[in-house]
Amino acid sequence: MRRIGILTAGGDTPALNASIHGAAVRANQLNLELYGLIKGFNSLLNPRTPYVHLNPLFSVIPELDPTKGGTILGGSRDYIDPEDKDTVNLIIDRLHRLGIEGLICIGGDGTLNGLQPLCERIPTVLCPKTIDNDLGLNYRNEVDQWAREPCDEAPGYNYRHTAPHCELDLEHMVNYATPGYATAVFVSASGVDRVRTTAESHRRIAIVEVMGRHAGYIALGSAYGQPDLVLIPECPLNLERLVERVKEIYDVQKNVVIVCGEGIVDESGAELGAAQRSTDPAGNIMLSGASEALRERLIEAIGDDYFRTARRANAAREAIFTRKIGHTQRGGRPLAFDRFYAAQLGGKAVEMIFEGQNDAVSILQWNKQSGFHVDSLNGHALRDRWGHIHARRVHPSFYDAHMMKPSRTGVEYLLPIFTDAIGPDDCEHTRQTLFDAGNLYRPYHSVNTDINKRIRCLED
Ligand code: F6P
Repeated sequence: MRRIGILTAGGDTPALNASIHGAAVRANQLNLELYGLIKGFNSLLNPRTPYVHLNPLFSVIPELDPTKGGTILGGSRDYIDPEDKDTVNLIIDRLHRLGIEGLICIGGDGTLNGLQPLCERIPTVLCPKTIDNDLGLNYRNEVDQWAREPCDEAPGYNYRHTAPHCELDLEHMVNYATPGYATAVFVSASGVDRVRTTAESHRRIAIVEVMGRHAGYIALGSAYGQPDLVLIPECPLNLERLVERVKEIYDVQKNVVIVCGEGIVDESGAELGAAQRSTDPAGNIMLSGASEALRERLIEAIGDDYFRTARRANAAREAIFTRKIGHTQRGGRPLAFDRFYAAQLGGKAVEMIFEGQNDAVSILQWNKQSGFHVDSLNGHALRDRWGHIHARRVHPSFYDAHMMKPSRTGVEYLLPIFTDAIGPDDCEHTRQTLFDAGNLYRPYHSVNTDINKRIRCLED
């Protein structure tokens, strides 16, 4: 094997460049040329098939900085339709003409679904990334516990998780954490911490919305910012209990901070925020408005009188406000935890291709004795019997639905990831760079400008 390809699919995360860097370093050691495909699967769908040689003469190009967020290769949510055989043929032809003998896709569950048609034609390995932390399993046979039920809406069936609520062994989780998650939690927990002082000073109730789609991992981790209440999508809203908790807390401290995952659902299981069920090209529902919808419910349920009595003035509408942490969760410098393990997983993916593995995933495992370590997994271990990959949800034992906080097991899950997630260099980096006077004079220099000069195309 002489040359392999790599691409970054789906939304960006802070650790993508670190994964690519880890892959490039390992490729150098194995004398493999590494071609980066531009804008994810979009490159392969384009007859020009733009790419960058990431390790000419087996040294990594200087633009590939593992401490920078985003991806120098660019990303897109384009996927390959497995039914469209003509397009699959064209893609394979393009890969052959580029001399690419194996492909690494850095992505999440959507990417693993999307790379299936390629696996049948060229060795392909997934290197995990996602801030949502939803790629993996809570326990080994979890995929077998999905059932299909008929429904009226297309495609004519729904999936339902049939697993009993049982205790879980953290050491048996498959892919314990995903690069990008720790940094996203760092940003969201910092946001929660910062909103607190306004809520406190102005006697307000803050609802902070965090990302994560239908998985509540980011919301769970945001507990590090000490919110009073955490709402996760896996646990349907119990408005009565929420109002009770809000009042209990407000009566004592005259402010409440609530974190809500963007995918939280109401009592009937419908997303609170996704009023228009629009989907992105990967078929994911685009979630928005959960915190606003929750605010309206709280305004109505708590009412003005409560605030007028307790605060002697303002109406509920003035007392309850919302803030989204938004895309800052996905951006900027990755924390040491993400950088280190993203690089390891990238390197592992190259080894797996080199060893002849196909339709496989490099994964991050954890156990008490040896901490984190990388491993490999057959892609089918993540697919149900219909071949579908489900986003991992927060296990019920991680969440205390009565207190609306991470449970003891949830805390035990978070500790190995976050206790040393921030490196001393992360703090020093902020100290040295944020208020660098040069920032005020120099325009931002985008890495895209430099990468453009390196991009080559099939038809050049
Ligand atoms: O999957 C990552 C994620 O950031 C989700 O948490 C969020 O719902 C979605 O992507 C946002 O996507 P976009 O960048 O397309 O707005």
